[in-house]
Amino acid sequence: MPSIKINRITNIQSNRSDTILETMEKAGLEPEYNCRDGHCGACKCRLVSGEVEYVGFAMAYTQADEILPCICRAKTDTELEEVVYKLSVKRA
Ligand code: FES
Repeated sequence: MPSIKINRITNIQSNRSDTILETMEKAGLEPEYNCRDGHCGACKCRLVSGEVEYVGFAMAYTQADEILPCICRAKTDTELEEVVYKLSVKRA
């Protein structure tokens, strides 16, 4: 399973059937999103290294080095930057 390094500090394992956004959520992160369908660009981040595959049609504008995690899966070990997220806080 490919690993995904996020903002140089967090490393998570991806599941081939989940999008990168879903992978982040299952790892306990709360990434920024809105449409979850490639339209709004809220989840946009920078792909530093690795390969991703799109499983949906990207309508939001992205630069050449940017991806939309809500409609991408990691094909290889991947490094992302400028991911906007917070950690989920579980209360007892
Ligand atoms: S959440 Fe809207 S483009 Fe990803």
